[in-house]
Amino acid sequence: MKSKMWILPVLILAVLLAACGGGAAVEEPAEEEAAPAEEEAAPAEEEEEAAPAEEEEEMMGGEVEVFSWWTGGGEAAGLDAMIVVFDEANPDVEFINAAVAGGAGTNARAVLASRLQANDPPDSWQAHAGQEIIGTYVAADQIEPLNDLFEEQGWIDVMPETLIPLISADGNIYSVPVNIHRANVMWYNPAVVEEAGVDIPTNWDEFFTACDAIEAAGKICLSMGEQWTAMHLLEVVLLGELGPDAYNALWTGEGDWGSADVTAALETYGQVLERVNEDAASLTWQDASQLVANGDAAFNIMGDWVDGYYSGDVAGGNLGLVPGEGYGWAPPPGTDGVFQFLSDSFTLAKGAPHPEGAMAWLQIAGSKEGQEAFNPVKGSICARTDCDTTLFNEYLQTAMADWSSDVVVGSLTHGVTANDTWKNEINTALGLFLVDGDVAAFQEALVEAAGAYGN
Ligand code: GAL
Repeated sequence: MKSKMWILPVLILAVLLAACGGGAAVEEPAEEEAAPAEEEAAPAEEEEEAAPAEEEEEMMGGEVEVFSWWTGGGEAAGLDAMIVVFDEANPDVEFINAAVAGGAGTNARAVLASRLQANDPPDSWQAHAGQEIIGTYVAADQIEPLNDLFEEQGWIDVMPETLIPLISADGNIYSVPVNIHRANVMWYNPAVVEEAGVDIPTNWDEFFTACDAIEAAGKICLSMGEQWTAMHLLEVVLLGELGPDAYNALWTGEGDWGSADVTAALETYGQVLERVNEDAASLTWQDASQLVANGDAAFNIMGDWVDGYYSGDVAGGNLGLVPGEGYGWAPPPGTDGVFQFLSDSFTLAKGAPHPEGAMAWLQIAGSKEGQEAFNPVKGSICARTDCDTTLFNEYLQTAMADWSSDVVVGSLTHGVTANDTWKNEINTALGLFLVDGDVAAFQEALVEAAGAYGN
């Protein structure tokens, strides 16, 4: 239907990028590294007594190393819930949790990149559906196709039709999606908003008027954290100001990053940044969303992993709030009726040290039981379409309804719309903008980035 029309251009972009070697910066070192490692492997086989035992263990699928960035409240709890399901189904396979802390994978993905360059991949790693898979890991030939697994498990029938193209290239499916997250959510503190006497803003002008009242009441209008959360805010402002069609066009090559509409959207973004807390750069996403929960700030624009953090158990490092009472949610200004999505998925590494363990893990990640254990705690909805909806809280019920009725667009920050090289260029330009606030220079850099690395 109309709502899924963006998929085709993204797919075309993906194919083009794959064909012309998108993400080449990642590709070369990985290939060069591969050769010596293979050579090294040869003598080891002939050697020593100890080696056969290790090999045997590996062949029995004795362990699996899974790499992610889910170490904090909500996120770790979700992963743990899925590990319980894994352990029950695979009592003889040791699950090695190689998670590296840091929201949005900013630290983890740097660690992963050096491991991949050193030809030392974890068996399976967290990767976002979209260009992060296709324009980055597939382009660099770092992951294996999973078509047989999808067929065996009947996943083609239970995963959303629209998602499959975002994890596929040249007829191969490359990852197992565990969830659907919504990026465009504006979380708010109901008491702060009420005390300031403001309505939930539906466009940016209303937002600025609301900020005047909130700041007059001595509160932060919009809480924000470290740089990736500023990129998250940027994509939401671009979407709200441009609308879904023009937003999508920026990623397919049909749109013009140099247009007057983009200038206006960037100006709005600059004004929004004037309403955020001064210590943003030193805060994690949890710190920033906690400012809202504590009543220090009115709003926070962040993905719905915040729901997992807000509503999860205090014992698990979460805030234990009741959805709709301790916190509220609304579409950020200008984005009502649009679902800006991302999907966490897991890969099978090329040259995975424990391929059997990896397959056992992927089977759980794609299973109904695994997804029903993971998502209600993580603050996401199942990627599968057959999960028991009664397991999900009030916020997630609204996300499920919106996912099936809204116009769907992809997230930049969380890997859907741009390959890593392009995204890194945007991030560098953003870093400068956060310091100098120069809209013209920022826009010029965005135009250049799209020209060099976009479609
Ligand atoms: C996203 C990821 C989410 C969540 C978030 C904050 O990139 O897809 O699952 O972990 O980062 O860390």
